[in-house]
Amino acid sequence: MESQKPERILSGIQPSGDLHLGNYFGAIEQFTRRQDRGDELFIFVADWHSLTTIKKADDLRKNVLQIVAAYMAFGLDADKTTLYKQSDIPEIQEITWILSCQANMSRLQNAHSYKDKVAKGIGASVGLFTYPVLMAADILCVQSDVVPVGKDQKQHVEISRELAEKFNKAYGKTLKVPKVETPEEIAVIPGTDGQKMSKSYGNTIDLFVTDKKLKKQVNSIVTKPIDQGQPLGWETCNVFKLYKLFSSASEVEELKKKYEEGSIGYGHAKAELLEKIHEKFDPARKEFARLLENKDEIEKVLTIGKERAGEVVRKTLATMREKVGLA
Ligand code: ADP
Ligand code: TRP
Repeated sequence: MESQKPERILSGIQPSGDLHLGNYFGAIEQFTRRQDRGDELFIFVADWHSLTTIKKADDLRKNVLQIVAAYMAFGLDADKTTLYKQSDIPEIQEITWILSCQANMSRLQNAHSYKDKVAKGIGASVGLFTYPVLMAADILCVQSDVVPVGKDQKQHVEISRELAEKFNKAYGKTLKVPKVETPEEIAVIPGTDGQKMSKSYGNTIDLFVTDKKLKKQVNSIVTKPIDQGQPLGWETCNVFKLYKLFSSASEVEELKKKYEEGSIGYGHAKAELLEKIHEKFDPARKEFARLLENKDEIEKVLTIGKERAGEVVRKTLATMREKVGLA
């Protein structure tokens, strides 16, 4: 993988609230790794998508700035990577329309983001129904080679691939059919209760909360009750699973030994994990806070991204318009 030629990578994240360890290991870290090995990245904030859930304008504005600040704080660099806001590129909506004329109703009715809501009895909006088509437009408009996403988004990328193939079949080869990449080894970061870490389960350990709240979240990790002095089982321990993400092989072995000897309690293990989190994330946490005090730096990066991504998207749209007979 490391010796491969550079690829064009596209991914997006919804600005839907505080970022957590799952978002870091499942998404942000993949992006910085790709950037550092010389790939061409297009990373955007899916603010149109988040209108399906966020109904307060100020929340949306705040979340967008926070997410871009987070990307920047973790090292995404506007000189190398195109960072932009989806809604800054209106051409994506026209591409969405053209693709929606290819999309099959029953395929969308069976898409999980829509089906899950309907199954829960929540009234789904038309926006939620067409969510995968907008996502296909995001992906296909930059002609990306690879789309790295978490497992939960795999189906959406598959729908994008199908739409590209359908368009190409109808009008001749126009759109690149991208690969989907789901990193298996870190596919699911567990939350404080052992389930997948997710905002919607309230089991997150967040990246940019106060030290006090971070400590509280780490202390809330659920552990199995055990008698004093008895060894703790590391195999199933939620603290251990998270500790592993931050530590070298020898540190992991050392902690494993302490668990087996019964020379460490959960409180102590949680303190060690908290220290690791601070060690790894404090520089980015500081930079994040600084950026939010200097919002013009964030806006500048978004302006550069808007121009760069806009140019690529306009080229794709011009070809599509030509092919379908709009131009
Ligand atoms: P949440 O489940 O908290 O709402 P999102 O769906 O907004 O998180 O996820 C944003 C990005 O972070 C996606 O790429 C997603 O796959 C990744 N991600 C979220 N939670 C996890 C997790 N627990 N493990 C691995 N990746 C995750
Ligand atoms: N639906 C994705 C999520 O909720 C966000 C997203 C929107 C996206 N458009 C995308 C991800 C295009 C990858 C590619 O996480």
